Parts: sequence; C-alpha cells; structure tokens
Amino acid sequence: MIPAEQVLAELKEMRAHDLPTHGGRTMAYVYDSGLAGLDELGAAAHALASSANGLDPTAFPSLLRMENEVVATAAKLLNGGFGQVTSGGTESCMLAVLAARKARPDIEHPSIVIPVTAHAAFHKAAHYFNIRTIAVPVTDGFVADPEAMRAAIDDTTVLVVASAPSYAHGVIDPVEEIAAAAADRGVRCHVDACIGGWVLPYFAQLGVRFKPFDFTVAGVTSISVDLHKYAYCPKGTSVLLHADASLRRSQYFASAEWPGYTMLNSTMQSTRSGGPIAAAWAVLRHVGEDGYLELASKTLAAVRELRAGIEQIDGLRILGDPASTLFSIASPDIDLFGLADQMRTRGWFVQPQFAFQNSPANLHLTVTAANRGNEQLFLSDLRDSASAAVPAEISVDALKGLDAATLTSDQFDTLLSAVDMSKGMAAVNTLLAAAPADLRERLLIEFLGRMYS
Ligand SMILES: Cc1ncc(COP(=O)(O)O)c(C=O)c1O
Repeated sequence: MIPAEQVLAELKEMRAHDLPTHGGRTMAYVYDSGLAGLDELGAAAHALASSANGLDPTAFPSLLRMENEVVATAAKLLNGGFGQVTSGGTESCMLAVLAARKARPDIEHPSIVIPVTAHAAFHKAAHYFNIRTIAVPVTDGFVADPEAMRAAIDDTTVLVVASAPSYAHGVIDPVEEIAAAAADRGVRCHVDACIGGWVLPYFAQLGVRFKPFDFTVAGVTSISVDLHKYAYCPKGTSVLLHADASLRRSQYFASAEWPGYTMLNSTMQSTRSGGPIAAAWAVLRHVGEDGYLELASKTLAAVRELRAGIEQIDGLRILGDPASTLFSIASPDIDLFGLADQMRTRGWFVQPQFAFQNSPANLHLTVTAANRGNEQLFLSDLRDSASAAVPAEISVDALKGLDAATLTSDQFDTLLSAVDMSKGMAAVNTLLAAAPADLRERLLIEFLGRMYS
C-alpha cells in the first residue's frame, strides 16, 4: 500500500495547479465566504457522514433529520415550500422540469417556456426528458419579457421558468407577471434562484429593493436555491422547494419491478452520500442568519465598489442593471478574450461568455464576500488588462468548411493543432465565439472526449 501521507501529498501537489478557491481571485465556479474555519467545518462534517447512505432514510435517520432541517431553513428564507436536498443547481432545475412533466401525462409532446437567459440546465432537462424548449427573447435590459412569455404558453406547456437572478447578467426577471401568466393557464412556474436565493433575502434586509421572487408571489410553484453557492457550503448541495407537498410527488420515484431492495428515490441519485448533506447542515447551523447577513453585507459593499469602478474604466460597460452579485462586462472595442487572459496572468479568473441574441460577448464576474477588501486591486488589474489586451493570433477561417453534422476526428485534430493553449484561452474562445451554435456544441463535445481518457 502507498502510505496515506504520500497519497495526500500527491493530491495537494495536483491541487496546487488548480484555480485558487479562496481569496476572491476566481470569479466564477467557486464561492468563498472568507470566514476562517468554515471549509474545515464542512470537511469535518462531510467526513462524519460520507459513508452513510441517504438512499434509505429509515436506516440513517440522522441524514433524514439533517435534510429536513436544511430544507426548513431554505423554506424559511424563501417564505414557504416542501423540498429536498439535491446534488446541485442543475439537478434541482431538472427535477422541477421532471416533476412538472410527470404531473401532466395527458400531454403527449410537452414543452417548457423559458426566457433565453434561463440557465442551460433547462436545455439539459429538455434534452434528457425529451421535452421541447420554447426560449423567449428578453428585453434590452436582459430581463424576461412577461408578455412575450405569456404569448408563448400553449396547451403543451408544462412549466414556465423565471430567474432570480439570471446567471449571465445577474438581473431578476419579473416573477409576479410571469407566475401570473403561468397560473392563468394552470401551468407550473419555477423560479430559478439557484444563485440568488441565499443572498437576495439578506440584501433585502440590508435595504436593497427588488421585485419579489419567492413563495409570497402567487403562482410560483417551485424554487431552486443552491447551498454550494451563496450559502458557502461544500460543493454538492442545492435545495428544490415545491409550493406544496402534493406538487413534489411527481418528482419521486418508486419501483417494485425488480427482485432487489425497496427502490424509493426522492432525487435523481439513488445511493446518496450523507457527506454533502451533513456538510451543508453544519455550515448552515454554524453561520446562522446573523452570519449570512454579515456575509451579504460584505458582498454588497464589494458589489457596489466593483460596479462603480468598472463603470469608470474607459471602454468597459456593465450589461443591464444587475440587482444581485453578478456582473457581465462588455466592450465595443477591447478584445475581451484577450482581456480575460491578461487578467489570468495577473492572478484573476474572469469568465468569458459568448454573444447570444441581443447579448454581446462579455466577461462574467461572480462577487462573493471574499472580494471585500480587494476591490481596488481587482480594478487596477482590470484597467491594466484592458490596456494590454490584444486579440488572439488566430484566423476564424480555420472554421471554414466545418459542419456540426459531419465533423470528422481528423478535422477536429487539425483545428486543435491550430491553437496553442499554453498562450492562454483567447484563441480557443475566439474560434468558439465565431462558430455557429450547433458547431460550437459539437466542437465542445469533441474536446471533452479528448480530455477524458
Ligand atoms: C441561475 C442558475 N441556475 C442553475 C445553475 C446550475 O447550478 P450547478 O452548477 O450547481 O448545477 C446555476 C449555476 O451557476 C445558476 O446560476
């Protein structure tokens, strides 16, 4: 056997090459509270329960109790709901779609109505469950257009979606109008508060004004909120809440069609590690409402300082009027993919987002409590990066003749050999940005296949 210390040393060495998950320098993917000891608490709680199996709550009553307590905390924050802990935002959104679809077996070819800014998790749900997606264009401010959504609802609609806020632009959709349009047609309405659900209620307590999005809004039938985002829990936990327990039933699965153990699942997983549930329970219990209010206050201060600073940098602008903790930065003349690489060399990760309908290419920032105190450092590096940004040395002619339906491995290899990723990601992003959506999806899937052995 290889000694445990050696294995851990190897793991640490590998992790040293990842993006940092602390300090606020990675402004997507990770959420850092900046609180000393919080990760250690989550990890210790995870270790205490990771071998327990949530598959059978009668066998592991501790997990049942912790899950009920976590869900109750979420329900208190969002003014209602009966729910489940899931593995993440995508699973919560997919389960909301599944529950809505299963509740309407009478509809042969079901569809969901979403704003184009809804998270891609809804496209994934549609892909997995063979449901059509009706994606409705948004306003110039990137918020959902409730009248256009109302018009898109028809007899095949099983679910209407709104975001609070959307990931891409951080804006909150008009949930009251969208939920009313859904209710008028007897259709469920899901509010995707995966990223905002644990911070917006605290922002409201701090005096920030925005339109309501929770269960106080008539017609809202489910809400997703991720614990591994602004509840600062270890990765692997989200909550899906339904307005009442009867709406949740169609999300559950039981099978008596085999000779094995009793198969009864509340989520997509069957065996469910107790680790993430225990970790989330411990973090929520430790931080508490006063702790989350304090974290939200730091985050709000960072958001305000960053926004004001970005708006003063020549050539950069913020898209829409973000109400939460996320920004997207666009520019008419600066090469944003080059800018992202420049930021990377200065130790920051900002996330490129491609142009889509009325949304131009932009850089996404997720602001967390850990950004408080380093705003000016970020802004000065952003200013320098904007001056230094140059377009990647690549011609989009490399895409000529490539077709999503017929792309061969050889063609993909030729394309891949044209980019030198050691120089940064700008060349890759420039090519992907120039590819039509179907080709881009195909290229990404080819690339994924090359990465995994
Ligand atoms: C609004 C929204 N919905 C869904 C998701 C998907 O969450 P996850 O990455 O946890 O699956 C995200 C992730 O950022 C999100 O911001």
